[in-house]
Amino acid sequence: MSKQGFNTKAIHAGHSEFSPDSMSAPIYQSVAYPYADAKEAADIFTGEKPGYTYGRWDNPTVNLFETRMAALENTEAAIAASSGMAAIFLLTHHLLSPGENVVSSNRVYGGTFGLFNVGLPKMGAGVKWVTKPESIAAWEKAIDSKTKFLFVETPSNPSLFIADIPALAALAKRKKLPLVVDNTICTPALQQPITLGADIVVHSTTKYICGNATSLGGIVCGSKNLIDGIRQNGIRYLGPAMAPLNAWLSLNGLETLALRMERHCSNALAIAKFLEKHPKVNFVNYPGLPSNPYHKMIKSQMKGCSSLMSFELKGTYEEATKFIDALQIILHATHLGTCKTIVTHPASTTHSAMGEAEMRKAGISPSLIRLSIGIEDEKDLINDLSQAFKNMSLNNKKTASFKSGKYPLAF
Ligand SMILES: Cc1ncc(COP(=O)(O)O)c(C=O)c1O
Repeated sequence: MSKQGFNTKAIHAGHSEFSPDSMSAPIYQSVAYPYADAKEAADIFTGEKPGYTYGRWDNPTVNLFETRMAALENTEAAIAASSGMAAIFLLTHHLLSPGENVVSSNRVYGGTFGLFNVGLPKMGAGVKWVTKPESIAAWEKAIDSKTKFLFVETPSNPSLFIADIPALAALAKRKKLPLVVDNTICTPALQQPITLGADIVVHSTTKYICGNATSLGGIVCGSKNLIDGIRQNGIRYLGPAMAPLNAWLSLNGLETLALRMERHCSNALAIAKFLEKHPKVNFVNYPGLPSNPYHKMIKSQMKGCSSLMSFELKGTYEEATKFIDALQIILHATHLGTCKTIVTHPASTTHSAMGEAEMRKAGISPSLIRLSIGIEDEKDLINDLSQAFKNMSLNNKKTASFKSGKYPLAF
């Protein structure tokens, strides 16, 4: 059979022999698998016979999701985990030993930032941050003899930094280090890091892949050798396995992923253009806009820009919260990548525990608003934003004050 296309793989890859067979993969809601006899048990444990041992490291529904994700990310294998953070933790734990480090872009999701900054030192390992990740020379400078891999999130959440994956991959090859890409925001429907030279891909499948905010999940896609190692020496002892129901929900998500991403992208572009022209908006961060500094680079590595964006209101902290409260269709929640459009006000929620100086360094102002555009009708979303804008007066003060929260959360 000729090489299958993305949508065919997203719907069929790996589905071969369930008995009795069914259109929708069965949910194997079981933690263990009885053996025919003692010999079979022993053969499965030594690997002489294929089979399932225990739900923490093997489950048929989860394995199908893994096979499908490996097919879509063009890797030999994949291993699913209970969340995106669990996947990144499993990979990091596998690749690093005490004294070693990861060289990472500092434009990463807050949970990853915390894992690298706080979690790695507890394992005796560390991170070397690249604070100018657009500069390949800065990456090269950060690498030392103890570096074991390079990590980049592109596009990044929430700053929407876009890395030049082929250039980073060339550096990684020269230094004989694997390049890991967090592909959560684009998904393989829009960006395939392995074909651009990366070695390993990670995802929070909680976001666009699941697509409707029903299940947490994560995945590492890479060589068979890497994934076998994480299965035998990582997930088996650490335990963050994906739940079978979550694997099933994520398989359902994959079937419509490419279609949904097309709509996410077209809705997002329309809304970014609307916001960019609005008199009550200072600026819009969305790589799909021709005015965005990454716009040219995107064309060579992404089929679309996904639907995460941020914009700054010409207004104060209070006006930003008033604007959010006035939205009627758009939901105020701590999430992204679902069919429903979601608004977040980082200064009063996800980043509220940072001091003002730190927030400003991270590009977060009192009136910055993050949007994850869903797949509703574009005109209804624009109408919702328009009526919320009417709620606020035009205010050109750029330096409004922050209110600090208590909890150092990052979403
Ligand atoms: C880019 C990125 N990677 C990883 C994660 C962590 O995923 P999870 O919430 O599934 O643990 C997130 C969560 O928002 C994310 O945005």
